[in-house]
Amino acid sequence: MPTNSTTPLRVAVLASGRGSNLQAIIDAVEAGQVQANIVAVISNKKESMALERARTHGLPDVFVDPKPFAGLPDSRAAYDRALLEILEKNQVELVLLAGYMKIITAVLVDAYANRMMNIHPSLLPSFPGLDVQKKAIDWGCKLAGCTVHFVTEGVDEGPIILQAAVPILDDDTPEILAARILVQEHKIYPRAVRLFAEGRLRVEGRRVVIDGAKPDGQAIISPA
Ligand code: GAR
Repeated sequence: MPTNSTTPLRVAVLASGRGSNLQAIIDAVEAGQVQANIVAVISNKKESMALERARTHGLPDVFVDPKPFAGLPDSRAAYDRALLEILEKNQVELVLLAGYMKIITAVLVDAYANRMMNIHPSLLPSFPGLDVQKKAIDWGCKLAGCTVHFVTEGVDEGPIILQAAVPILDDDTPEILAARILVQEHKIYPRAVRLFAEGRLRVEGRRVVIDGAKPDGQAIISPA
């Protein structure tokens, strides 16, 4: 696993939409909290806010149009080969999925095994997939949260790096809960990137061991 070296980690971010997690990572890098260079922000959506944010911060923004790939026999893999070419050309060491709403194939997963992270707005393995805040409310959960994990071929299945929990309140809507979770996403994603950049993450089977982690051992009880 990476890099305890003094050269900043070369990071690419893949994002499809609003890009608030991208922004949290940009902010952490600019504040010197994470020793990394964002060498490419890549999107499958031309008009995404994520690409706009990249431009605002002087970062390379790359739109890869899925349309020309649509007719090909294995269009998803073909698209990912195009992405991989960009990643390799830019000597990317860590790939971050940040609201990237496209299924990733083995082409990228294998090339970036244990070097590609995703953030997901649930306490995995509960509620993989879409509309997860609504699912957590409908299920009657008292806690929800978010997870940063390494990406494997199974959707939202890879080894868990960090999680944050938040309460679900009686009058929560999916939107209110999503906003509460998002605040935590913006904390744990940059933190996970920093741990990676510091060479402190070790994958052992399904578990990610964090060198020097100091868990406080406190229970979170909801409602208190
Ligand atoms: C975030 O809540 C992220 O966890 C979620 O999409 C949102 C993107 O927001 N990702 C997934 O649901 C992936 N399964 P952002 O574009 O503002 O970072």
